Amino acid sequence: MRHVLNITDLSVSEIDSLIATAMDIIGNREKYQDICRRKKLATLFFEPSTRTRLSFEAAMLELGGSVIGFSSASSSSSSKGESVSDTVKVVSYYADIIAMRHPKEGAPVAASAVSGVPIINAGDGGHNHPTQTLADLLTIHREKGRFNDLTVGFCGDLKFGRTVHSLVSALSRYCGINLVFISPDELKIPQYIITDIVNKNHMPYIETRDMESVMPTLDILYMTRVQGERFFNEADYVRLKDYYILTPDKLAAAKPDMCVMHPLPRVNEISRTIDSDPRACYFKQVENGKYMRMALIMMLLGLTPEI
Ligand code: CP
Repeated sequence: MRHVLNITDLSVSEIDSLIATAMDIIGNREKYQDICRRKKLATLFFEPSTRTRLSFEAAMLELGGSVIGFSSASSSSSSKGESVSDTVKVVSYYADIIAMRHPKEGAPVAASAVSGVPIINAGDGGHNHPTQTLADLLTIHREKGRFNDLTVGFCGDLKFGRTVHSLVSALSRYCGINLVFISPDELKIPQYIITDIVNKNHMPYIETRDMESVMPTLDILYMTRVQGERFFNEADYVRLKDYYILTPDKLAAAKPDMCVMHPLPRVNEISRTIDSDPRACYFKQVENGKYMRMALIMMLLGLTPEI
C-alpha cells in the first residue's frame, strides 16, 4: 500500500509514467471508463475546495468507480470532536482510497499511520499539495515539452502557498532549473524550502520584490493568491492582497512563449483580460489535474492498464 503525502513520494520515473498514462487517457477515454468499477474513493475535505475535490470525484467517476465523502469539517463528526485519525480509520473500512484535505500541516501523515487504504494529500495547510503539482507538471510537459533548462518565477504568497512548495520540490529533481522568487518581504519563501530543497539540490535562485524587472527572463510565471485564510492579522492581509496584479502591460515584457500558470482560485492577481492571451495556462492546469488524478488513482490501486 502506497500513500502520496508529498510529491517526492513519487519517483521521477513514476511521474513520467503518470504523465504517459494521462496522455493515453486524453487520447483513449473509453479504454479507461470501467477500470475502477466497484472501487470507491472517499474525499475527506476539512477545508474548502472547488477544483481538487471535484476533479478527484470526476476522475473516479470517469474511471467507472464511485465516490463518498464530505466537503466540510462541519458536515462530519469532526465537528463533534472526532480526531482525524479516528475519522480516517473509520472511512478506510468504507473506501478503497482516500483523498484528504486538512488545514493542519501534517494531518495526512497522521492519517496515513492508521489508514488501511492509500491516502492522497489533497492539500495540508501551508505545507504541500502534491496533486496540484501533478497538474502543473503535465501542463509544463504539454506546453514546454521538457522539465529541464527552465527559468521559473513564483510570484505572490510564497510563504503560505503550498502549491509553490510542492512544485519547487518537484523541480529540484531536474537539471538547469533557475528559480526566481517574487514576493513582498512578509510573504517570502520559507527558509526550510531554501535550506532543505533549493540549496541541498544546488538550484540557482534569486529573491526579489520586483516582478517587472525579471519578467523578460522567465519561461514560466507561476502566480499565486495571497492566502487570507492563513493570516493571523486581517490588516496585513488587506495591505498585501493586491501587491501583485498581472496586467497586459506587465505581460508585454514577457517572452512570447512564456507560460502564465496559477493553481487557482484567482482573486485579483491576474487581470481577466489575460485569460484570452495564448500564454495563459491556468485553465489548462485545471483540465490536466483531472487526467493526472485519474492516473494516480489507478496507480495507487494497482489498476493501470498497458499503454
Ligand atoms: N488549486 C486548488 O487546490 O484549488 P481548490 O482549492 O479549489 O481545490
